[in-house]
Amino acid sequence: KIYNVILSGGVGSRLWPLSRKQHPKQFLKLFSGKALFELTAERNQKVVDQIMVVGNTDHIEWSKQLLSDISLPKTFITETAARNTAAAIAFAALAVDPDDILIITPSDHLIQNQDAYEKAIKEAVELAKKDFLVTFGVVPSKPETGYGYIEYEGKDVLSFREKPNTETAQEFLERGTFLWNSGMFCFKAGVLLEELKNYQSEVFDKCSEAWQTSENQCLNMEASLQIPSISIDYAVMERSKKIKVVPAHFRWNDLGSFESLYDYLRSTGHPVDENGNMVIGTEIFTAFVGLKDSILVHTPDALLILHKEKSQDVKKVYNQLEKYK
Ligand code: GDD
Ligand code: MG
Repeated sequence: KIYNVILSGGVGSRLWPLSRKQHPKQFLKLFSGKALFELTAERNQKVVDQIMVVGNTDHIEWSKQLLSDISLPKTFITETAARNTAAAIAFAALAVDPDDILIITPSDHLIQNQDAYEKAIKEAVELAKKDFLVTFGVVPSKPETGYGYIEYEGKDVLSFREKPNTETAQEFLERGTFLWNSGMFCFKAGVLLEELKNYQSEVFDKCSEAWQTSENQCLNMEASLQIPSISIDYAVMERSKKIKVVPAHFRWNDLGSFESLYDYLRSTGHPVDENGNMVIGTEIFTAFVGLKDSILVHTPDALLILHKEKSQDVKKVYNQLEKYK
């Protein structure tokens, strides 16, 4: 059986104040009246047998509503504490048979060209059947530090490096032998758990314990808090020797930071001034003086002004907030 596991537990802190704790960006109907979360399930429904959502208890009802038009069987795994993607993926893997295939997708990407997407998924499923952990590689266009980098030769992966610093990212870009990790993965549930056990046995053990004490696929908070918070990229992808990469010949936009949102909006005709400054969220006339490539984000109760190259640092602001989260 093939599952699409939609990871939707992130709060989207790098898109604060558009994205809020109670209203994470993946649920906001920003794209032709649809939420990115909804678009994710729609895009996958033709290539899988079942949809599985892993997300926070605060948003599970919302998720159910957004997916009400999807006729495939659906499962919802509820987290009471966010423990990052290694744990979220482990829960999905523990919930199914070891030979079932999981197509892991974030809930906050915008993907265009459905045919090419489906082709890539089918190719990945074939590799997953042979016990590989499959990544999807995107041709990099700038030294982005918020992504993982895949060093590749054909479908083989020579190394995986999560979120390098700017100098390293620049070097990878110049070498031309690296792809961006799209954040989607495909593997057999059992193979992923085996690799997690090999490289992060504590995460594996604590996730298994938490899963055993869960009720109706809802995780127990105390047990969850014992799980180390680490992403699948650091936990498994940087270490495993079983990784393959399938080229992503579809249009891929990670709308995870203001820089990527800026690039996307600009490509769709959203106005910028002659110095590349952009306003998001208000029609109020705004002038930028002496600023270049800045973004002003306006919401009813919070205002953010940033240089687009500092987009990754918005997370730091979010983490320091007590109010307005
Ligand atoms: N259920 C659940 N629980 N989901 C989570 C949790 C959690 O604790 N933490 C994050 N997620 C979800 C997010 O909502 C998002 O859909 C997805 O998992 C990935 O998390 P991000 O926080 O957005 O990861 P990232 O953007 O820093 O990095 C990943 O994606 C990049 C591409 O967008 C990595 O895989 C990078 O290597 C990759 O380049
Ligand atoms: Mg992301």
